[in-house]
Amino acid sequence: MKTFYLETFGCQMNVVDSEQITALLQGIGYQPIATPDLADLVLLNTCSVRDKAERKVYGHLGRFKPIKDKRPELIIGVGGCVAQQEGQRMLDTVSYLDLVFGTHNIHRLPEMVQHVEQTRQRASETDFLDRETRLNLFPERTATESVTRFVTIMQGCDNFCSYCIVPHVRGREISRPSAEILGEIEGLVASGVKEVTLLGQNVNSYGGKTQGEISFAALLQAVDGIPGLERLRFATSHPKDITAELIDCFGTLPSLCPQIHLPVQSGSDRILSLMNRGYCAADYLDKVKKLKAVCPDIRLTTDIIVGFPGETEEDFQATLDLVEQVGYADAFTFLYSPRIETAAASMEDKTSARQKQQRFDRLLKLQQRISADIWEQDADSVLPVLVEGASKQGDGQLFGRTAWNRIVNFSGEQKLIGRIVPVNIVKVLRNSHLGELADDS
Ligand code: 5AD
Ligand code: SF4
Repeated sequence: MKTFYLETFGCQMNVVDSEQITALLQGIGYQPIATPDLADLVLLNTCSVRDKAERKVYGHLGRFKPIKDKRPELIIGVGGCVAQQEGQRMLDTVSYLDLVFGTHNIHRLPEMVQHVEQTRQRASETDFLDRETRLNLFPERTATESVTRFVTIMQGCDNFCSYCIVPHVRGREISRPSAEILGEIEGLVASGVKEVTLLGQNVNSYGGKTQGEISFAALLQAVDGIPGLERLRFATSHPKDITAELIDCFGTLPSLCPQIHLPVQSGSDRILSLMNRGYCAADYLDKVKKLKAVCPDIRLTTDIIVGFPGETEEDFQATLDLVEQVGYADAFTFLYSPRIETAAASMEDKTSARQKQQRFDRLLKLQQRISADIWEQDADSVLPVLVEGASKQGDGQLFGRTAWNRIVNFSGEQKLIGRIVPVNIVKVLRNSHLGELADDS
């Protein structure tokens, strides 16, 4: 039996792509293995959203060199966003690399691997596909043991936020046909899945560019109507595409969890405009207010970039003010990282690295206080938890999530996996809760 070792970096899109890679490799007789040392094939599925993520790829590739020195028959490949961006260049710079496949070329992997096996010739495929071909290539995945699942509803992005490499490495936005999405979710629910997260770079523009396709809000309504589906989430949405119809869904759809990830990026109108985000702080705050009005217990999370080119102390203060006003349950904060091919990479930037780091630390401190206050509200209350499996702590405990997507670890029997049970939150930790099964379960 041949084996492969696959490491995945980056966002949930890459996680889904890796599931597809796994299925395709199993189709040609490869089985997954947990370490690279004995594998016949080693693959990295890479992320290029920030420079740090990109550098990691080269660091990790270096780990495989001694293995290849010992076993020259080992095949090493790179896929994902760095592969898309670098293509043949990666083969030129990394002498022990055999394969490079881009974000539109995953379906070609089995043939590429077999080609290397037979000929020992290195190969790179990073061409973008046309719309029609891509529409036929949305990953349909097989039955699963898991309770929760990501379902891809669109690929690519047309927004061209000025800092972002995604449109360059994932191509133009396309929406998967709604009938196919609903069919996949029905199949998942029949195999025991209780929660799905609809996935795309910008899910709330779903259908907008496809004639005859339903809107994102209508898709949510249809998914909510699937019998047996307990919970529905989606990621990521763009503030400019939050419609009144979508906001209403949070007040009307029983399965839609009271939680939304709504990246704001900055609280300064000047910076938002330079970022090409298509909204100002007041538009954003207005949508947040409407979301809270239809769903008072909704919790928001966000992404924020600190140190965008030309960001002044005043701009940064506007971000702090907005963060305080919204009261995010969590925020993913990033130091701006220039990316090739993007518009922001050529913008003038006079702020020192030290100043940026200081701003980053101030934001982090503020957000940690706000997050702690919000999550502390859960202490001593009984919350419905969808039990997903054995806790990662490895101490025989179970873990699940609240409707707000917070991980809860607690003791209970395996038979609870897949059920929603009431759990009393006894301790609030920084990234998770500790709970006890409530008496009435
Ligand atoms: N530098 C820093 N952060 C970035 N992000 C995207 N591009 C960059 C960049 N060049 C962040 C954004 C986005 C998240 C996924 O990554 O906040 O929402
Ligand atoms: Fe990048 Fe903007 Fe598209 Fe998100 S919406 S993937 S930040 S270009």
